Amino acid sequence: MLQGKSIVLGVSGGIAVYKAVELLRLLTKAGADVHVIMTKNACEFVAPLTFQTLSGHPVHTDLFSLSQEQEIDHISLADRADLFILAPATANLVGKISQGLADDLLTTSVMATKAPVLVAPAMNSNMYENPIYQRNQKTLVEFGYHVFEPVSGSLACGWEGLGKLPDPKDIFAAAEAVLTPKDLSGCHILVTAGPTREEIDPVRYISNYSSGKMGFAVAAAAQQRGAQVTLIAGPTNLTVPFGVHSVPVVSAEEMRSAVFDHLSDSDVVIKSAAVADYRPVDRSAQKMKKSATELTLNLEKNPDILAELGQQKEGRILIGFAAETERLLVHAAEKLQKKNLDLIVANDITREGAGFDVDTNIVKFLHADGRVEELELLSKSQVAQQLLARVGVLWKANSLSDDQ
Ligand code: PMT
Repeated sequence: MLQGKSIVLGVSGGIAVYKAVELLRLLTKAGADVHVIMTKNACEFVAPLTFQTLSGHPVHTDLFSLSQEQEIDHISLADRADLFILAPATANLVGKISQGLADDLLTTSVMATKAPVLVAPAMNSNMYENPIYQRNQKTLVEFGYHVFEPVSGSLACGWEGLGKLPDPKDIFAAAEAVLTPKDLSGCHILVTAGPTREEIDPVRYISNYSSGKMGFAVAAAAQQRGAQVTLIAGPTNLTVPFGVHSVPVVSAEEMRSAVFDHLSDSDVVIKSAAVADYRPVDRSAQKMKKSATELTLNLEKNPDILAELGQQKEGRILIGFAAETERLLVHAAEKLQKKNLDLIVANDITREGAGFDVDTNIVKFLHADGRVEELELLSKSQVAQQLLARVGVLWKANSLSDDQ
């Protein structure tokens, strides 16, 4: 989403400046071209050299610096930006912008830009709650600025409360969200992710290698595109994406119950979870002792959640995933048809960079109308964005046919 985008990162002076360094790292890692403007006070907290090294560009600090103006002036910075991010944004910075004041390079550039502006305030909690500050922040929101509210926690001043700069990963996700088309606004999407675990006894289970990365990326992308997202996830080590409602589950049975509990609200279901197909017939209440040299486990079939959904579709859009090791298209097409899906995402998990527990995937989209789209090696976030763009088209077409 941020690949090739031109971003101006405006840093004003507060203890949270160190977090802007991490934010810059995430932005450049995502392929964005980032130019940093620092206020004089920001330079007191972290030296511009740190930002310069990580961005690969000189840091802009002075409105009247001739050498800097020759390279790139504040108007061209403002002009070329796809997005401005102000992080951390102090009460002073928010106050100045909300009043239309432009007395340094950062405020001048913000005033001169037509790009969207994401403001991430950070300050002492009393300052944050001060009605004058709140009025200024509201003014920014009314003028279309995107304000990413601070979080609660212990503040550098020793206080506990609201005013902490959010985690750079969350600001990064908010930046992606600002630049993402909101083609799923008003759509309710249910996503399943991760593995399920089928307990044998209190210390052992049957499962698979799913990390949840693919499904969490789908949930994040859907949220960024404006959808209301419920994520039903088996056990993973991942952080729930910002703005996503999560329902943790363990077994396939629990996943099935959670899916049906949340189904009535959903316009779209995307099942990227790797559900265990079988579970032990009996779960031992105590740890099983190793006595015999061989052990036979009796397994029974788990419910096929997606197949059940396909039988009671009720106008919903159903998307499945297929992880295959051979005859990818044949097996995926069979599942598409048998489970009554609108689209299936087929991944050949034998290919390097595809499938379980990696950050990338190589997929094919098989549509119900027979079309097959082949995607190159992409990050799971990019695959998710590509998938959600197709979901947007399907959902729009569904809504139009409902209206007729
Ligand atoms: O989690 P990661 O490490 O990022 O890995 C991603 C992934 C490889 C798990 C993902 O990309 C993927 O392919 N998910 C589907 C895994 C799979 O093996 O599906 P399947 O072929 O068993 O099932 C086909 C579809 O039916 C899936 O959408 C599945 O969620 C669903 N299903 C399967 C069995 C079952 N009992 N209930 C189901 O709903």
